[in-house]
Amino acid sequence: MDKFHLLQEIIAGRRSTKPAVMNGKKIADEPIRQLLELANWAPTHANTEPWRFVVYSGDAVQRFCHEHAELYRQYTPPATFTPAKYEKQQHNGDKASHLIVVYMKRGSNPNITALEEICATAAAVENILLGAEALGIAVLWSTGGMLLHPVMNEYFELGSEDVVLGMLYMGYTDEPVKPGRRGPIEEKTSWRS
Ligand SMILES: Cc1cc2nc3c(=O)[nH]c(=O)nc-3n(C[C@H](O)[C@H](O)[C@H](O)COP(=O)(O)O)c2cc1C
Repeated sequence: MDKFHLLQEIIAGRRSTKPAVMNGKKIADEPIRQLLELANWAPTHANTEPWRFVVYSGDAVQRFCHEHAELYRQYTPPATFTPAKYEKQQHNGDKASHLIVVYMKRGSNPNITALEEICATAAAVENILLGAEALGIAVLWSTGGMLLHPVMNEYFELGSEDVVLGMLYMGYTDEPVKPGRRGPIEEKTSWRS
């Protein structure tokens, strides 16, 4: 298969996998490192390399999920808090192998906007997702729970301009891959010639 078709197969074949349908099998740390190396090749305006990762493995995955659920309990108004959601968050990582929290570290270059730094970090995440697809690793990029709440900056001791982009549940699954669904690209494109 030529490079384009191989890449096309990986990109179009990549699917999100909910942690609830992961099977508990552990990923070795080495493939996780390889995926982080791919992330590190994302495009970056002025070479600021703003992507940052906090990698949880082993018992630390459950510990983080419990702490995350506690933050949900503490920072959710009683009117919207639900015990079912609290419990789901506590156990979301039970069948995952690793969990990676991704954030953008705002640099000091005044010529580079926060939007550009977020774009670069999102590109780094996509590199991980595509690499994981190639390695047969299941992933869900999630912004659920408190991940986009300002308390996350406090929790990870981030600067006020740093931005959490979500967490990646990583594991293996025995579930068959559901076909992807996208509207036609023609509806999202205008050509000027
Ligand atoms: C920034 C971002 C945040 C997401 N957050 C969640 C989430 O909180 N929960 C979830 O189930 N899926 C989440 N997803 C995954 C999407 O649901 C998924 O990409 C979409 O359903 C398309 O499916 P596919 O990735 O298999 O093509 C997120 C995706 C992105 C890009």
